[in-house]
Amino acid sequence: MKENIDLSNLPAHIAVIMDGNGRWAKKQGALRIFGHHHGIKSVRDTVEGCVELGIRYLTMYTFSTENWNRPKLEVDGIMQLLVKTIGDEVPDLHKNNVRLKTIGNIESLPKSARKKLQDSIELTKNNTGLTLTLALSYSGKWEIVQACQQIAQQVKSGSLAVENITENLFSTFLATQEAPDVDLMIRTGGDHRISNYLLWQIAYAELYFMDNLYWPEFRKEHLFGAIYEYQQRERRFGKTSEQVTSVLKEV
Ligand code: IPE
Ligand code: IPE
Ligand code: MG
Repeated sequence: MKENIDLSNLPAHIAVIMDGNGRWAKKQGALRIFGHHHGIKSVRDTVEGCVELGIRYLTMYTFSTENWNRPKLEVDGIMQLLVKTIGDEVPDLHKNNVRLKTIGNIESLPKSARKKLQDSIELTKNNTGLTLTLALSYSGKWEIVQACQQIAQQVKSGSLAVENITENLFSTFLATQEAPDVDLMIRTGGDHRISNYLLWQIAYAELYFMDNLYWPEFRKEHLFGAIYEYQQRERRFGKTSEQVTSVLKEV
């Protein structure tokens, strides 16, 4: 599959909704947390696949604001897993020139997770390869409201004029900041929804839903398959097909 990918037409930014851990575990007759543990191998494989191809940005939905409403046992298990995984994986990420970032309400995470994340972000901040962003305690609506509050503050203090609020400016107030908008959004687990993820940034993303695959089963071959399918699609951005395929650009 990898050989079929056109390296001159890679998505600059891939977002992944890693869904189906609980159902995968249930299928094995195990507790939900077992599925989360097995999802780590899929994360590693996905990151490796992105590094191999030279993808610039990968943003992974790790824990949503709404996920706080799950049973305490599961939430605590996920937080412990997060701390352990960061400890285990960051040395390799660093070796692979990966820059780690987070988006979301990091303040709401347990102190141990926050500390591990801050140290890892600091360690990898000058890396120039893949930017791996973990969305943690994240919701798209929350992020947009945060941006609005900051913009309103600047207008109130007189440092920003209302007429200077453009789409470009607005983007700089979002947590994803310098990352380009999402080109390809992948969701495993069979549900066809966005679940409050990157609402602004997916405005023109290609959506790729995997109906028969739970996240713990996802491997880089699936990533390559999704990228290949992305490359077969015609991205028109509102124009006509003739306009985007025409070699001669009209005046
Ligand atoms: C995704 O898998 C992981 C998180 C949301 C943390 P789920 O835990 O949602 O698994 P399903 O969708 O219930 O199978
Ligand atoms: C989305 O999955 C969040 C993450 C993958 C972290 P959910 O399992 O929480 O989504 P819904 O609630 O089924 O839409
Ligand atoms: Mg789910």
